[in-house]
Amino acid sequence: MPTQFNRLAVILHWFSAVLVMLLLFAGSQMLAPLDNSDPMKIGALQGHATLGVLAGLLTLIRIINIRMRGKPAEISPEGSLMARASSIGHKALYLLILAVAGSGMAMAAAVDLPAVIAGQAMLPESFAHLGARSAHGILTKLLALTILGHIAAALYHQFILKDGLISRMRFKRMD
Ligand code: HEM
Ligand code: HEM
Repeated sequence: MPTQFNRLAVILHWFSAVLVMLLLFAGSQMLAPLDNSDPMKIGALQGHATLGVLAGLLTLIRIINIRMRGKPAEISPEGSLMARASSIGHKALYLLILAVAGSGMAMAAAVDLPAVIAGQAMLPESFAHLGARSAHGILTKLLALTILGHIAAALYHQFILKDGLISRMRFKRMD
């Protein structure tokens, strides 16, 4: 069993971490407040959708990479509450990112975003009538809360338990 995450897992973890936090921030603070009639909206949607699909794809690659190459055993004792919480928390992060990207793509399909970007269709007045919009809103909030819990847990391990958890997700020369 490896003692730390493999190099690809580490690269994808930190790249996805920045990307997903950026999408959460820009989505809620910059994209959603823009009216659909605002001339900036289509460009903002295009950027958000492209990066959002990328976040979903990178998550699929992360899952395949971990399935194929394995990962270190839980740092907390096997079967302990901490080990189970960590395993459930990590699965929840993966599932939430995929569900957020999926609901975003459902919205894009419902309004035919590619045609809107190509100038061949108009955006509806708003996205509010779409079930996928409500799902995207709720799932992004759940994702943000789960990430806060994840960061708090990582800091608790690192600075209170002092078990060197973060070094398992650090770039090392070997591997
Ligand atoms: C400052 C922010 C962050 C820190 C310090 C951090 C730290 C860590 C550490 C140390 C691990 C390895 C845990 C272990 O050894 O069991 C880990 C795993 C993980 N992190 Fe983060 N993380 C951060 C942000 C994020 C964000 C924003 C996301 C979501 C996009 C994320 C998703 C994950 C996932 C899914 C795993 C599990 C990997 C696996 O078991 O497959 N992390 N993180
Ligand atoms: C992990 C990936 C993604 C994250 C973290 C994310 C995040 C967000 C956030 C935080 C909001 C604002 C929610 C609110 O304030 O209620 C939002 C809105 C939105 N997102 Fe995403 N998103 C992602 C992927 C996608 C994808 C792949 C698409 C389309 C292909 C998409 C399309 C949209 C649309 C259309 C809105 C609504 C904008 C509005 O109400 O005017 N998102 N997203």
